[in-house]
Amino acid sequence: MQLSRNMGINLNLFIYLVLILCSYGGQARELAGTENKPLEISLEDGLTETHAMDHSNKLGHSSHSHAHFTSMDHLDPSLMVFFTLKDLKVGKRMAIHFPKRDPANSPKLWPREEADAVPFSSNQLPYLLKLFSFSPHSSQATAMENTLKECESKPIKGEVKFCATSLESMLDFTHSILGLTSEPQVFATLHQTKSSVTFQNYTILETLMEIPAPKMVACHTMPYPYAVFYCHSQESGNRVYRVSLVGENGDRVDAMVVCHLDTSQWAPTHVSFQVLKISPGTSPVCHFFPADHLIWVPKLHAQGSSSM
Ligand SMILES: *[C@@H]1O[C@H](CO)[C@@H](O)[C@H](O)[C@H]1NC(C)=O
Repeated sequence: MQLSRNMGINLNLFIYLVLILCSYGGQARELAGTENKPLEISLEDGLTETHAMDHSNKLGHSSHSHAHFTSMDHLDPSLMVFFTLKDLKVGKRMAIHFPKRDPANSPKLWPREEADAVPFSSNQLPYLLKLFSFSPHSSQATAMENTLKECESKPIKGEVKFCATSLESMLDFTHSILGLTSEPQVFATLHQTKSSVTFQNYTILETLMEIPAPKMVACHTMPYPYAVFYCHSQESGNRVYRVSLVGENGDRVDAMVVCHLDTSQWAPTHVSFQVLKISPGTSPVCHFFPADHLIWVPKLHAQGSSSM
C-alpha cells in the first residue's frame, strides 16, 4: 500500500490519514478486506490520555523510564507488546495490549507551513503553553515537555531519528532513509473488529506477510496538541511481519510486528528487557504496533504470504 501523493495538498482538516492501497496481488486485497478500499488510520489520541506518553516512550529507544513498574511483577498492561522472536509462531498465545483510540479526540495533522511556523523546542515551552492555553503544571504541559525532550534526545548508536510535525516532513525523512529511488510503502495494524477490549490474550493465526526490511522507518505517535510522529530507523537488522491475531473474545486484528535482531546497543534499562527479563543483545526483540503508528519500507514487489 502506498500513501497517496496528492494527500499532501489537503491536509488542513485531516483527522484521518487516509492510506490508499495500491494493489500488488492478492495480498493487498486480503489486507484491505475489500479491493481498493481505503485504509483509514487514526492519528494520535488526545493529550487527555496519559497512556499515549507511555506508549511512545516504550517504543522509542532513547528513554528508559521505570515509571511503568509498580513492582517487577506488576507490569503496566500497556507494556504488553514485547515478545521474543521465538514466540512468533502460529498457535502462540500471548497477552497483548492494543490501545483503542477515539478519532474524535485525535490531534490533527498540520500542513507543513503551519507546523513550521510554530517553534518545536523545549526551550520555547512557556511560549507554547500560552499558545495552546495549557497551564504550566497541567498534565498536558508535562506531556508536551516530555514529547519535546524525547524528540530532542540523542539517537543511540546506529539509530537515526526525527520528529515529524507534518506529513511532508515525515515523507522527507522516510525518503532520506529508504533512498530516493524507491517509492516508500506504509503499513499499519488494522483492527478487523470493533471492540472495547484493549488487553487480552490473542492467538497468532497466521503470518500474512514477512517483509525483509534492512531499511525501515517506524513512526510512533506522540502526545502533542497537533499530530507529531517520532520516526526512527536502526541500522542493524530488522524484520517486519504482518500477522493475523484472534482475541479470546473473538476480536480479529491484522497486526504489524517489528523484530529488532540486534539489541546490543539498547540501554540495559530499556523497558522491553524488563518485560521480557532478558539482557541487551541476548535475543531479538519484537513488538506489536498500535494502529496509529506507521511502518515505512521500500516498495515491495508482488509476493505471497509466507508461513513460519
Ligand atoms: C491470559 O491467559 C492466562 C492463562 O491462561 C491468564 O492467566 C491471564 O490472566 C490471561 N491474560 C489476560 C490479559 O486475559
